[in-house]
Amino acid sequence: MIEFRSVRKSYGTTNALVELTCTIPSGATVGLIGPNGSGKTTALRLLTTLIPPTSGDILVDGDSVCTTPAAVRRRIGYMPDTFGVYEAMTATEYLDFYARCGNMPATLRATTIPAILARVGLSDARETAVMSLSRGMAQRLSLGRALLHDPAILVLDEPASGLDPRARIELRMLLHALHNDGKTILISSHILSDLADLCTHLLILEHGKTIRYDTLANLTQVTQHQSIRVELTTAAPNFVAVAAACGYHAQPSSDDPLCYLVHGSTAPVDRAALLQALVAAEVAVFSFAVQESALEQAFLQMTSADQVMKELPHA
Ligand SMILES: Nc1ncnc2c1ncn2[C@@H]1O[C@H](COP(=O)(O)OP(=O)(O)OP(=O)(O)O)[C@@H](O)[C@H]1O
Ligand SMILES: [Mg+2]
Repeated sequence: MIEFRSVRKSYGTTNALVELTCTIPSGATVGLIGPNGSGKTTALRLLTTLIPPTSGDILVDGDSVCTTPAAVRRRIGYMPDTFGVYEAMTATEYLDFYARCGNMPATLRATTIPAILARVGLSDARETAVMSLSRGMAQRLSLGRALLHDPAILVLDEPASGLDPRARIELRMLLHALHNDGKTILISSHILSDLADLCTHLLILEHGKTIRYDTLANLTQVTQHQSIRVELTTAAPNFVAVAAACGYHAQPSSDDPLCYLVHGSTAPVDRAALLQALVAAEVAVFSFAVQESALEQAFLQMTSADQVMKELPHA
C-alpha cells in the first residue's frame, strides 16, 4: 500500500505539488493525468525517493521516503520519461549494466536478463544496439530495466509518449500482464484514452493540485448519470433556461458556442421531455447525444476545460 500524506513539493516559489493525499491499494494501476507542469513527474519522483518532499511524507508498506528511503527504493522499479545515454550498448549489455549497478550476482543475471528480454518482447533484439531500437522497443527495454529487481511497484512516467498506435497497444498489453501479476503500477500520461483501459484508479492533477482521486468505476459512473451533449445549428440564448425548466443543468461547451453539456436525470422519459421542450422553444437542435466517453467527460468537467483541451488530442 502506498500512502501520500499531505505531500508538498516546491521549487523556489513554484509549487509543483500541493497537499497531495491519497492511498493506493496494492495491485492498483493508478493513472496520473494532467496537463504539462501539473506535477505528475514531481509526484512520481517523490515516490521513487529521487527528490525529497518539501513537507509531508509518502509511506510504502510503512516505509517512509523521508526516513527509510532505501527500503522504499527496493520495492520500486522506475521508468523515467527520458531514456538515458547508453546508446552504444546492446539491449543485453544495457540490462546487464543496470543489474550490476543493483549488485545482482552474475549467476542471477545470467537467468534474469534473458527472462526480462522475453517478458518485454525483445529476445530477438538482445544483441541489437540500443541506438538501433525503434522507439517502442526502447521503451520496452526501459520497462525491462525497471523490472530487473522484480519490484512490487512500477512507476512509469509517460511510457507511451512518442509511440505509434501499434506500439501503444503492445505496451498496454504488457502493462495489463504486469497488473495481472499483481504489480502496483503508477503511470502518467497526457492521453486519457491510453489510461482508460488500463487503470483501476485515476489521479487528476492541475497546477500541482489534486482535482480528483477515485476509482475508474466511480469516475465513469458519476458522468454516465449526467451528460448529454446537445449541438445546435444556431445560437439559442434561452437554452439554459429551457433546460432548467425541465430540471436539467446546462453549460455551454468551452470549445464550441453552439454546443451544450447537459446534466440531470438519466430517465429516458425526462430526456425525451427535455428534447421536446427545446424543440417547442424553437431551439435548433441537430444532435442530442448521451456522452459516449464517460471518462473523458468526467475529466473535462473536473478540470478547467481550456487547459485540458490543449492536452487531449481528440477532445
Ligand atoms: N527541477 C525543477 N526546478 C524548478 N522547477 C521545476 C523542476 N521540476 C519541475 N518544476 C516545475 O514544477 C512544476 C511541475 O512539473 P512536473 O514536471 O512535475 O509536471 P508534469 O505534470 O510532469 O509535466 P509534463 O506533462 O510536462 O511532464 C512545473 O511548473 C515545473 O516547471
Ligand atoms: Mg512530466
